[in-house]
Amino acid sequence: MSSRRFPPDFVWGAATAAYQVEGAAGVAGRGESIWDRFSHTPGRVWNGDTGDVACDHYHRYRGDVALMADLGLSAYRFSVSWPRVIPAGRGPVDPAGLDFYDRLVDELLAHGIAPHATLYHWDLPQTLEDAGGWPDRSTAHAFADYASVVAGRLGDRVGHFATINEPHIVSDHGYRTGEHAPGRVEPDAAVAAAHHLLLAHGLGVQAIRAQAPASSAGIVLNFEPKHPATRHMLDQEAAVVAHDQFNRWYLDPIVHRGYPEDGLRAWGWDQREVRDGDMEVIATPIDFLGVNYYSRRIVRSPLLPPVASEPGERTDMGWEVYPQGLTEVLQFAASRTGDLPLYITENGAAYDLDGVDPTRDPERVDFLRRHLDAALAALELGVPLRGYFVWSMLDNFEWSRGYACRFGIVHVDFETQDRRVRDSGRFLAAVAETGLPDAQASASP
Ligand code: FCB
Repeated sequence: MSSRRFPPDFVWGAATAAYQVEGAAGVAGRGESIWDRFSHTPGRVWNGDTGDVACDHYHRYRGDVALMADLGLSAYRFSVSWPRVIPAGRGPVDPAGLDFYDRLVDELLAHGIAPHATLYHWDLPQTLEDAGGWPDRSTAHAFADYASVVAGRLGDRVGHFATINEPHIVSDHGYRTGEHAPGRVEPDAAVAAAHHLLLAHGLGVQAIRAQAPASSAGIVLNFEPKHPATRHMLDQEAAVVAHDQFNRWYLDPIVHRGYPEDGLRAWGWDQREVRDGDMEVIATPIDFLGVNYYSRRIVRSPLLPPVASEPGERTDMGWEVYPQGLTEVLQFAASRTGDLPLYITENGAAYDLDGVDPTRDPERVDFLRRHLDAALAALELGVPLRGYFVWSMLDNFEWSRGYACRFGIVHVDFETQDRRVRDSGRFLAAVAETGLPDAQASASP
């Protein structure tokens, strides 16, 4: 069977996030997060689902790490829950909270799996939101203190720390559209939040460097190609603005290019939150960039009549399947970051196969095959791509959609907490071991 191989030291991993998998919301000492508050507010999350129990990963992490080892994964990307470690967001540390991550890291290392920790994957301590949340500058400083605590404790064993996961979604969904916690619909607060998230990132990198000088520090950003709906000039302009506001808004300041101008004009932001020295802090050099990729966006100018969207191939999220977009966003990121190591820190798909064996997931296998092919294409074009993390290791709490959308390469029965590896998990393991088979060979797993 013919196959194309990834570099021998390529990192193969799976990703999760604290609130989506840990559960154990009620253990003594853990503080409330904005997602606890939001998910317990009627009408916010589909079906009234919450992360109270989720995958109970907090208690079952040993079994989950054993599954990763069975699949031959070389890395696990997880996030640390800020309110578990510092229940009130700032101030006293709960030693029991830190102990959990200590045990998890040791378990991973005992299995030869490299821990990749993300410090903020959306579960802000509720007390900090009550004091203003991300639109308030003090949250960035509280984050730096928290980063310091975690890096100080885990830095001797964690080689990779990412500061923040997808600041775009935090600002946009949390404060502009309100579809995520804390559910605020305040456009001015959203741009302020975006700036403070970047500031938190820069301060966080400095804290990691101080506490864990041997570890790599970076950030995880999400990207999607913004393609104009037609060749009409207005659609083309709208696509450029969308690209600025989404793909460049965070990356450009981090690589010291400042905020993109068309995006600035479109937000109508007077930059009142930007203080002297902020842009230098934000551009503190990083050691890697995490790239999350799911889909592309067709952009139509609001000044033109709407056009019917192409039906196309879509996942259960309604997201278009567009594998070549992965090559495109990797090339775009590398155009800004040069030879900085890049990792695909999330890529995957939600598919539910009602009524049939949930471990048979040919659509997800096909999705992964085509996206890994696009990743190989980027490598062949010279992009310094170092690893691939599938989203997700486990079916989990998919934010405002609750448990309705399943992304796992491992199926979770939420009644019994039984885990069963899906075909996609076996497929990923096989690619890691022997390379990417050609399309025909992988069509029948
Ligand atoms: C990303 C999030 C991740 C997960 C996937 C589907 O935006 O980072 O937690 O929800 O989407």
